[in-house]
Amino acid sequence: MVNIGTLWQYLAVQAPLHSSMSGDALNLTKMGLTAYTLPALPYAYDALEPHISAQIMELHHSKHHQAYVANLNKALESHVAAVAASDVASQIALQQTIKFNGGGHINHSLFWKNLAPAGSEETSLEAAKGLVGAIEKTWGGFDEFKKAFSAALLGLQGSGWGWLVKEGGNGAGLRIVTTKDQDPVVGGDETIFGVDMWEHAYYLQYLNGKAAYVENIWNVINWKTAEERFQGKSEEKTEL
Ligand SMILES: [Fe+2]
Repeated sequence: MVNIGTLWQYLAVQAPLHSSMSGDALNLTKMGLTAYTLPALPYAYDALEPHISAQIMELHHSKHHQAYVANLNKALESHVAAVAASDVASQIALQQTIKFNGGGHINHSLFWKNLAPAGSEETSLEAAKGLVGAIEKTWGGFDEFKKAFSAALLGLQGSGWGWLVKEGGNGAGLRIVTTKDQDPVVGGDETIFGVDMWEHAYYLQYLNGKAAYVENIWNVINWKTAEERFQGKSEEKTEL
């Protein structure tokens, strides 16, 4: 069975190769493997208004995320066939496609869950006492962290993501990182929350007003989910 944890490990060791996918796709389920599926949103498409419009949410989830899932499954099917045929060249040719679409699936699955309707219990900092304490200790104050995170988001060139992560290992410190395109956070760091900085995440509503999108995203961050991830109580890596 292919699960999201396995996918994470797979993506963690991929070299940044560039090529397009080719080859006939087999059917993952016929091969006894689990095909990835689009997860349901934990709220309605209009639940994040006025900060993120229903139109953006519907297209982002039902079209963009769905495409990452479909293309990931197709690429994995081709990869399994290439392994069965001992076709190393085709296996190599598929790496970038798996990385891009697998990362897209992981990143969006995390993103939906780290958002919540503005004004809900989940968006109150009260829901993340442990995390907020660690943030204040690391950045000298919550506002300082917000400024640093927002600056990292706005500093991204092209498409990518901004993340708050808890470092792996004994240190377990917090860090702000950005990833290009659909690269996920890999290598032992745990994602606390992320913000999608692709134009498809905001352009229909904010046009070129990227700073306004970043300012408003704070109203819909799910601090309850963030706290669970910070405390290591999330099972997201194995449940998808
Ligand atoms: Fe996106």
